[in-house]
Amino acid sequence: MRLLVCGGAGFIGSNFVRVRVRDFGDELVVLDKLTYAGRRENLQDVAHEFVHGSIEDAQVVAAAMDGADAVVNFAAETHVDRSIAEPDAFVTTHALGTYVLLEAARAQQVRYVQVSTDEVYGSIAQGSFTESSPLDPSSPYSATKAGADLLVGSYHHTFGLQTLICRGSNNYGPYQYPEKLIPLMILNALHGDRLPVYGDGMNVRNWLFVEDFARGIGHVLEHGAPGEVYNVGGPDESTNIEVVRAIIDAVGADEDLIEFVTDRPGHDRRYSLGSEKVRALGWEAQMRFHDGLRSTVDWYRDNAWWWEPIRSGDYRAYYERQYGRALG
Ligand SMILES: NC(=O)c1ccc[n+]([C@@H]2O[C@H](COP(=O)([O-])OP(=O)(O)OC[C@H]3O[C@@H](n4cnc5c(N)ncnc54)[C@H](O)[C@@H]3O)[C@@H](O)[C@H]2O)c1
Repeated sequence: MRLLVCGGAGFIGSNFVRVRVRDFGDELVVLDKLTYAGRRENLQDVAHEFVHGSIEDAQVVAAAMDGADAVVNFAAETHVDRSIAEPDAFVTTHALGTYVLLEAARAQQVRYVQVSTDEVYGSIAQGSFTESSPLDPSSPYSATKAGADLLVGSYHHTFGLQTLICRGSNNYGPYQYPEKLIPLMILNALHGDRLPVYGDGMNVRNWLFVEDFARGIGHVLEHGAPGEVYNVGGPDESTNIEVVRAIIDAVGADEDLIEFVTDRPGHDRRYSLGSEKVRALGWEAQMRFHDGLRSTVDWYRDNAWWWEPIRSGDYRAYYERQYGRALG
């Protein structure tokens, strides 16, 4: 298959590209704006064509989509904290960018997969969300992602476009930008920096290894029914403080590094996805959280070439603004 992968230079997109080239022999075109989170280094070991551009640019999108059998859209602003500080880019990329991609897919009659998130359902105290649960997003990030999902659905209902939506739970694994919980804690623990935990650390997330999500998205692309939504959740739940303690243990760092900091405004307490529908298609998560976390710690420990330029660059200023203290 020839796939156009938008946002393929980011964390999940680059893992998806790697899985599809390595395990399925697909031909890949990556279209990416290369924001702070998108890096050519993420794809340096994978054969692909690269187009530098944004999904809001109709001309660039039309040219990149030419000859593709399907488009998979990962392109997004993805950090909830940044969506609270500066929501503009979230609205532009998720609303306008998704619209431009859908129009191009409609013009070229190309199957369209939107990569979405469990955050569109909001928080759930007990049980799990199914695909028919109401959307109830809390942050500018999740609200704009939910808006994009609704627009995607409308292109199926109104124009008959072959659309699919994959809603993933919290991903972790190699190549994740260190503003996110797991790489942040791993790199801080490796450097002996403080480990800032929001609120009481009891927020619960449903952790999914990134290659499992990548395989799930590919599975939905190939076997999903057009117009449908598929939840792709991880096999294990964990509180944030349990995650941090497991990282401390894996790194061999000191528990005293933990520092409870003021909670994120509107912080969702618990996310949980029921994934029966995608399981019925034949997908299953292969990595349990305990093993995946260990291998992720090893990857960061062994790949300083990847994170050193980030940790010594603009990320330092972001971190200081966010947590009110400098990295060591
Ligand atoms: N990280 C998670 O835990 C998670 C879980 C479920 C779903 N998702 C979804 O998966 C997708 C990928 O997430 P990620 O964690 O890999 O994000 P990321 O921030 O690592 O990567 C996003 C990529 O999109 C690119 N991009 C941003 N705006 C663009 C634009 N306007 N045009 C073209 N490219 C643009 C960036 O340069 C970057 O390469 C997102 O849609 C996100 O909502 C993420």
